[in-house]
Amino acid sequence: MGAVEIKDKVYWVGAVDWDIRDFHGYSTYKGTTYNAYLAVDEKIALFDTVKSNMKEELLYHLREITDPERIDYIVINHVEMDHTGCLPEIIDLVKPEKIFCSPMGEKVLKSHFHREDWPLQVVRSGDTISLGQKTVRFLETKMLHWPDSMFSYIPEDKLLISSDAFGQHIASTERFVDEIDLGEVIRHAAKYYANILNLYSRNVQKLLATVGELKLDIDMIAPDHGLIWRHNPGDILTAYDHWSKGETREKVLIIYDSMWKSTAKMARAIGGAISRQGVDVKMFNLAVNHRSDIMTEVMDARALIFGSPTLNNGLLPRMADFLCYLKGLRPTGKLGASFGSFGWSGEAVKLMNTAIEEMKMELVDPGFRVKNVPTEDDFARCKTLGETIAQAVKAEA
Ligand code: FEO
Repeated sequence: MGAVEIKDKVYWVGAVDWDIRDFHGYSTYKGTTYNAYLAVDEKIALFDTVKSNMKEELLYHLREITDPERIDYIVINHVEMDHTGCLPEIIDLVKPEKIFCSPMGEKVLKSHFHREDWPLQVVRSGDTISLGQKTVRFLETKMLHWPDSMFSYIPEDKLLISSDAFGQHIASTERFVDEIDLGEVIRHAAKYYANILNLYSRNVQKLLATVGELKLDIDMIAPDHGLIWRHNPGDILTAYDHWSKGETREKVLIIYDSMWKSTAKMARAIGGAISRQGVDVKMFNLAVNHRSDIMTEVMDARALIFGSPTLNNGLLPRMADFLCYLKGLRPTGKLGASFGSFGWSGEAVKLMNTAIEEMKMELVDPGFRVKNVPTEDDFARCKTLGETIAQAVKAEA
């Protein structure tokens, strides 16, 4: 791709991963980038590295700017392996004078790489280092999204290097948001937030407040994935403020899987009844929708309705998968209900209701199950359930 100067003597030197389609359970159908940045001053500092299989691309970009052995400092904003996979080889080559990391970063680096000889120097929120004309100020961002996470801020350039925060999984030849469609970038940033950061929304609110209190002058946000917010950092800061408030609207997701279409027919009947009450409904058949795409829609939905037939005294596997994923991302303030068909034992609705309670969602209705194929009476019950859900959603407004 080529190194790109993003600020005076600050360069993007990362790698573009066009091929990745699954990022630990997150569907990255647009690929991603692993962004690393090089600040060239009296001291040369490399901010983050890349995944192990992308090392050559990082080195190629570094060599466009300087001999890697001239790098003095490496800053590790986040230890997850998509940013440190090649770190041992880079350190062996660069032999940095210092490696800066957060207090938790030191522990996490040691438990990942088991190296006691690296010149780690712990930095805390508010600590600064000088590169010459430029300074770097650190801000710990614990649990956004790992305990070690931190930001690096260069005030002279009004540049915030934000690690995973404000990122998106998009592979592109362009490096800046304003070079491609803003709406598309925001959609991918929303998906990223929903799947990576949503469960830490309280921390996001605190972080945004801290950034405001510190009066950091920021005109560029450079995340570790995707496009750089060059002229419009306010767009993504505003979006994060909105998403982290967890506000919902009159919107219901019906998330279901079906064996022989009975549960699917129930889903459509329930969805139709909700829609006729003027409430937005989105249908997600788990056979054709990826869990990580559904999560984006979960963010502003007020109710999540689950449908599954019973298979071998349990749930259909895709519903079990989805509920496991959803539970881990800890949705808050949602209403829930369940439905499904069965042949002889019929445990699925009870299991989904248990999951709803475990996630501390409010069970709107205990739901119901249909034996084998729904009758007209069963469709009437679906209509009633849909109307009950719609009323509950409106009452929450
Ligand atoms: Fe992009 Fe948490 O690593």
